[in-house]
Amino acid sequence: MSAAPKAPLIGHQHLLSIRDLSPGDVTSLLDLADTYVDLNRQQDKKLSTLKGRTVINLFFEPSTRTQASFELAAKRLGADTVNMAVTTSSVTKGETLLDTVATLNAMNPDLLVVRHHASGAQRMLVSTANCSIINAGDGTNEHPTQALLDALTMRHKFGDLSGLTVAICGDILHGRVAKSNLYLLAMMGARVRLVAPPTLLPPDATRWGAEIFHDFEAGIKGADVVMMLRLQNERMEGTLLPSTREYFRYYGLTPERLALAKPGAVVMHPGPINRGVEIDSRVADDPKTSLILTQVEMGVAMRMAILDALSQHRRNDVGARA
Ligand code: CP
Repeated sequence: MSAAPKAPLIGHQHLLSIRDLSPGDVTSLLDLADTYVDLNRQQDKKLSTLKGRTVINLFFEPSTRTQASFELAAKRLGADTVNMAVTTSSVTKGETLLDTVATLNAMNPDLLVVRHHASGAQRMLVSTANCSIINAGDGTNEHPTQALLDALTMRHKFGDLSGLTVAICGDILHGRVAKSNLYLLAMMGARVRLVAPPTLLPPDATRWGAEIFHDFEAGIKGADVVMMLRLQNERMEGTLLPSTREYFRYYGLTPERLALAKPGAVVMHPGPINRGVEIDSRVADDPKTSLILTQVEMGVAMRMAILDALSQHRRNDVGARA
């Protein structure tokens, strides 16, 4: 008699939005990722948890951190990985997203990591593919794995997310990172401030449950975490700002401004950073306060936890069919 399949760590086969997760799911992922942080700091980083599984990275937008960390995460768990180069794929001959995913799905992958410029693209794929779909960023909508790795970074620093004051500053209008972080942090008991000029805030931001600040210095005053966001020029239609020089003057994070945050406050940024636009190099490169490279380290561990947790559904499916 075979043993009953173990209950999966989280109640979902796909990771599409932070809003699909419960606080318990988030805590389970953070706890599992913690074990991978320790593993990743050892010389021998390789496990066989996902031996025999296949992970495909399908990125329709550029990426350094997310794509590389998913590839490393999959390899460290023993999975086979394929990075689809979209610019040299049959997408350039007119193949649609749905046809591309149906084609890849026919090769029986277990997990498909997708970044796409259209908000909601990954949710549409769930009925086309029978593998787990992971949202690695969809347009201006969400970047759930970034919010989870940011939460891991903050929990490592402060021990708990509950009670923290986090100021998310910059291009909130186009920033999928802002939305996913806001959902996660609010769910876990943190206070969130959105700090931006009116032109870089969505009209409905007042209904998101965060405090809104247009004055940068007031917005970061007393904050535990100052999370800076990049100006997403590639998504901007028309002129939303007079100039990047003006933007830095009013919304750039300098050491003098950071001194207004709570003593011991830290600086985060999902990257890539634009030096001299939203952040001064003296802040970005200060190891006493900047967690920017810690976020990158935590990204690999969190993505290992996500691949592991979602694969548990697939393992149970396969076990049930056998
Ligand atoms: N933070 C983030 O998503 O970075 P990449 O675009 O380099 O993946």
